[in-house]
Amino acid sequence: MLQMTLDLLRCPYCASSDALAVAEAEWRLVDYQDGARREMVSGRLVCPGCGAAFPVADYVPSFAAALPQDVRADADYWGRYYAGEAAKGNHTYMEPRLARAGRAAAAYDPEAFILRHPLLKERGRCLDLGCGSGWTTLMLGREGFAALGLEPALGSVVVAKRYAMEQGTPVDYVCGAPGYVHFAAGAMDAVFAFHSLHHVPDLLDVMPQITGWLKTGGVLAVDEHVQSRPQYWELAGLIGSQLGVPKSPPSTGAEPSANEDCSQAAVLPAIATHLHVADLKFRHVAFDGVADWASGGEAPSDAVLDLARGLSNAVAEWRPGDVEYATVLAIKGAQPPGAEDRRALEAKVPAPLWPLFDCGRATGSVGGHTWGARLRRAYRLLLARGPKALLREAAGYWHWRLGQ
Ligand SMILES: C[S@@+](CC[C@H](N)C(=O)[O-])C[C@H]1O[C@@H](n2cnc3c(N)ncnc32)[C@H](O)[C@@H]1O
Ligand SMILES: [Zn+2]
Repeated sequence: MLQMTLDLLRCPYCASSDALAVAEAEWRLVDYQDGARREMVSGRLVCPGCGAAFPVADYVPSFAAALPQDVRADADYWGRYYAGEAAKGNHTYMEPRLARAGRAAAAYDPEAFILRHPLLKERGRCLDLGCGSGWTTLMLGREGFAALGLEPALGSVVVAKRYAMEQGTPVDYVCGAPGYVHFAAGAMDAVFAFHSLHHVPDLLDVMPQITGWLKTGGVLAVDEHVQSRPQYWELAGLIGSQLGVPKSPPSTGAEPSANEDCSQAAVLPAIATHLHVADLKFRHVAFDGVADWASGGEAPSDAVLDLARGLSNAVAEWRPGDVEYATVLAIKGAQPPGAEDRRALEAKVPAPLWPLFDCGRATGSVGGHTWGARLRRAYRLLLARGPKALLREAAGYWHWRLGQ
């Protein structure tokens, strides 16, 4: 644990604004590409206000003792998933370069839309919320941020910290979750969340705390799951089966994770209530995987990429309200947004997507649906109503595929 992190940590149990004191510690000098830093390897942090103690082990401070059962269960799921992938030799979730290469076919491009965004030109101190086994935190560190990853799965952040040290990039990690961990007020120039806010229970209640960690003028940058449209996943599966792709086995045997999508309907309302939305982008994702399947792990050919993009574009045109992901950059103002800001936001958001900003919307649930009949209808409609270009691309693709 770097000194930077020690300076930022506050007690999650009491109102003390004092930094945590080091009760006992083993320190070591760690070499990084830009020089050595003194790090706390293990020990104990104590709150000067209430005396609560928090362990540090393997360079990672842990606030896991405070986590409730559902957050632990969700974190266990993801910890097992990332450990399982790493054991298979898949280091995509640790190494940003591999993560990027594996996304050839997907429209998900945080490097382009988020990191090159003019609002994030000044690299400062940032938090990476729900960082898993750390590839995004490492990406932020390599991009010049003083980055701190926050994640409730202890095993994941221990692995992430070790990998970052091997790589010589001085990023740090904390085990915990919003609501059960705390940082100095106004300490962060930016807070990032990549596919994690939809896992945070009671996000509407927790968002003021997250906002409090940002300085005024600081940026919250998220890429998030904001709505589920399982009929398209099934449709993508059908296309996969047409391509002869075996259905991938469940990764952990217990799908989905405990808090999967528990706050997906709250992501956009929570952001828009507390911060000033500066820029946003939406995407349909169901067919992102098609190109990967069709190319069987090789870099997808242009024909395959065209097919995947054609399918996504067709759905975007056919059902614009069916976006599943949003990328949002929002600024912490001196005041939270008012009625005027709300109107300005409304003007920015396409009408079919405005309901996604409605706090009263019921949480979308993935389980308990039988999709068969709706799916077949959707498939027929897609084929009947999809743009001609899509059908041409698809026909071209089949022709090419059959010739292989
Ligand atoms: C889909 S993964 C995304 C991980 C990583 N940000 C990425 O982009 O690859 C969701 C992550 O959120 C974490 N998580 C679960 N509950 C959380 C909570 N309450 N607060 C923060 N993160 C949480 C999970 O453990 C998991 O690592
Ligand atoms: Zn305390």
